[in-house]
Amino acid sequence: EAVASLQIASQPSAYSDDDELADVDWDKLGFGLTPTEYISENRIQGIYEGTKAYRAEDGRILLFRPAQNASRMKHGAERMLMPSPSIQQFVDAVKETVFANKRWIPPPGKGSLYVRPLLLGTGPILGLAPAPEYTFIVYASPVRNYFKEGTAPLNLYIDEEFVRASPGGAGGVKSITNYAPVLKAIARAKERGFSDVLYLDAMNRKYLEEVSSCNIFIVKGNHISTPPTNGTILAGVTRKSILEIARVQGYQVEERAIPVDDLVDADEVFCTGTAVGVAPVGSITYQSKRIEFKTEGSLVSKELYSTLVGLQTGRIEDKKGWTVEI
Ligand code: COI
Repeated sequence: EAVASLQIASQPSAYSDDDELADVDWDKLGFGLTPTEYISENRIQGIYEGTKAYRAEDGRILLFRPAQNASRMKHGAERMLMPSPSIQQFVDAVKETVFANKRWIPPPGKGSLYVRPLLLGTGPILGLAPAPEYTFIVYASPVRNYFKEGTAPLNLYIDEEFVRASPGGAGGVKSITNYAPVLKAIARAKERGFSDVLYLDAMNRKYLEEVSSCNIFIVKGNHISTPPTNGTILAGVTRKSILEIARVQGYQVEERAIPVDDLVDADEVFCTGTAVGVAPVGSITYQSKRIEFKTEGSLVSKELYSTLVGLQTGRIEDKKGWTVEI
């Protein structure tokens, strides 16, 4: 695959033709910022969100738990020393964006409108310090399946060379810095024919963490487990919703450290995420061994996803107050 070319904006008129040195007291030069002629704008801090709007059969437009995303952005911003929109400002901006792009929301059953709120720190700064300016942007795009596999089971790869986050870091924050470094791991897994990478914990290289783009669940009989949100994995809104739905549907639900060895005994494995939805995993390859899981017949992941989608699209009555009508 071709790597996108780097576009460097050139604005010759912004440069001075003058070869003379600028008027600076060079002996007093420290590390404070001295404004120069030209700034190539750079991004310093960045956190983002993902949420979806659905067109219901009866014509309503529904958002799914947008306040959860707002609150995650707020917590993430605190961690990254960024000012953040209030819950209300965030939800209003999402509503406004969806409303203005209403005609791009796919018809029922054909996908959803993915909404991407983004908070960026920008501006002229050299040292390691919070940015002087912040921009909150919300944009949207109609989407359907995240993986090229469509709804077919995913084949995941545990690449032990890479970890996604470590204790004390910012793995629990939806920071752009958690996503750029995994691109290489994903590219290598794809070259080898896999769908995505499943990361192990940084300390022991033993416990499941998450996949590059989604959380992971394992099913054994009536038990459903997923790794706990202890700061190194993302507290997914879909993850949380599936945990609640599974409990109501009578499963024994557990958030626990899952040793990679538990995969051998798992009946089913699935991934959850706003972009991904609930995706069954057909295999996980670890240390050259391919472990396979059930992907046909009655699947726990299918049952849970059907309830989730039913709520999101208004087919199932929302008694939890999860949906927000626009
Ligand atoms: C989402 O699931 O909405 C995300 O933001 C994950 C991203 C890697 C697409």
